[in-house]
Amino acid sequence: MSVDGKIAPADRQGRKFFRFMTPRHRRLLHRIRSGVDAVVVGVETIIADDPSLTVRDAKGPNPIRVVLDSKARTPLDSKLLNGQAPTIVAVTRDAPRRRIMKLRKKAKVLVQKRHGRVDPTELLRELKTLGIQKVLVEGGGEIRWSFFKANLVDDFFVWVAPYVWGGREAPTLVDGTGFINETEAVPLRLVRSRVVDNLLILSFSVKRSHV
Ligand SMILES: NC(=O)c1ccc[n+]([C@@H]2O[C@H](COP(=O)([O-])OP(=O)(O)OC[C@H]3O[C@@H](n4cnc5c(N)ncnc54)[C@H](OP(=O)(O)O)[C@@H]3O)[C@@H](O)[C@H]2O)c1
Repeated sequence: MSVDGKIAPADRQGRKFFRFMTPRHRRLLHRIRSGVDAVVVGVETIIADDPSLTVRDAKGPNPIRVVLDSKARTPLDSKLLNGQAPTIVAVTRDAPRRRIMKLRKKAKVLVQKRHGRVDPTELLRELKTLGIQKVLVEGGGEIRWSFFKANLVDDFFVWVAPYVWGGREAPTLVDGTGFINETEAVPLRLVRSRVVDNLLILSFSVKRSHV
């Protein structure tokens, strides 16, 4: 994110942020990816950035790519469906059957028996039955909020780039509806801080005692 907490400019083209990443940053990110079983993103990130979410700048296996996509809106030509790594699209009853059938040609589709958005707790349960234990939630802000809200976060890594982007409409690190009461705010413990090529890297763990 930028110093003012934005994860993309106001036009939501998050790829513009990646241009500030040096080879060391990319290696680090890809090493983190290669150490998890699955990488999770929201469908708006797929639509805005079309990331491939594979491991290219480090050694190690590709994680399984998981999209939270209630209505099965993942574009069929997105890099996520290019077969370079396994992909799971999690949808709900709101997804049109025809879209599900098209997605099934390119990915595994998990259909939750509910309307509305994908339930992250149920999703993690389903992923566990597939042998997926360690999950990296890469974004965007709506998805991060859902995982925090459901108390599913153990560790939180924040990369702060030395820029101010501003923009009321720009997505932020954690969006969603937000907590209203101070008792609900998620308490964190700073575990490590370091600077890598002008980027501040903060590692937090979530304090469990508040639950
Ligand atoms: N710098 C970074 O770290 C970074 C990383 C990723 C993305 N980004 C940027 O972030 C922006 C996209 O983020 P975003 O916050 O708008 O969207 P997002 O988190 O990528 O996706 C949100 C969408 O996911 C679907 N969804 C399904 N189940 C959900 C659930 N339980 N909770 C929340 N969403 C759920 C919803 O669409 P349906 O209702 O249709 O299912 C929702 O609109 C883009 O601008 C991208 O460039 C930046």
